Amino acid sequence: MILSIKDLAAGYGKFRVLEDVDITIKPDEIVALIGPNGAGKSTVLKSIFGLTTNYGGKIIYRDKNITKLNTSELVRLGISYVPQGRQVFSSLTVKENLEMGAFITDDKVLIKKKMKDVFAKFPVLKEKTNQYGFALSGGQQQMLAMGRALMQDPQLLLLDEPSLGLSPKLTKEIFQKIIDINKERTAVLIVEQNAKQAIKIAHRTYVLEDGKVALTGGKNIVNNPKIKSIYLGGR
Ligand SMILES: Nc1ncnc2c1ncn2[C@@H]1O[C@H](COP(=O)(O)OP(=O)(O)O)[C@@H](O)[C@H]1O
Ligand SMILES: [Mg+2]
Repeated sequence: MILSIKDLAAGYGKFRVLEDVDITIKPDEIVALIGPNGAGKSTVLKSIFGLTTNYGGKIIYRDKNITKLNTSELVRLGISYVPQGRQVFSSLTVKENLEMGAFITDDKVLIKKKMKDVFAKFPVLKEKTNQYGFALSGGQQQMLAMGRALMQDPQLLLLDEPSLGLSPKLTKEIFQKIIDINKERTAVLIVEQNAKQAIKIAHRTYVLEDGKVALTGGKNIVNNPKIKSIYLGGR
């Protein structure tokens, strides 16, 4: 396992959100996390990334207990996080945004190489190298947010609702990029509203309801009657 979450209880201050959460991710997997609004999906990602109050349980990343580490230590260990709402720096250019992503190194040659890799994956970002974040479309901002995370050369990528607000065509494109990133040996934990597509690209899926894992399974989870009726609109 690249990541094992065991019996995790987490929230914000006194507000408990997650209880007894168990999630595992293998190094070559895409794992999806779906569930209703407010179920605690984003909180799971934040808890891995050191942004919540953790009351109990543990988070093990490559045999190391990371439960108490801060975000910059986590980035150095190979975990990158793309928050919900594609938060790019709007008054910085594409290039500057990507450079911000590389804060863990001073090595100019390495930064250049990483940027080249990101441009190869997202050619549109190369075209817009000197454009400001605010001038990008929603899809381009999402690609920039993902590109920035990739500058850190992650072994585990945490993605929160990458398709939110994007057209079906762009959603498809973003999902294809996620498959490509995973094929290049990055494990992915993706939170999605778009349950159908998330299940399709994921090796395994967890359903979170009210702060707890309600259901888990492989791709055949689409045939689960409960999943069909609640998350796939009865199809
Ligand atoms: N920063 C925060 N401080 C306090 N409560 C929060 C914070 N972020 C989220 N919550 C609460 O935690 C619960 C789970 O939220 P979240 O993890 O964002 O759900 P989801 O991503 O599944 O929609 C909700 O009740 C939400 O209001
Ligand atoms: Mg959320």
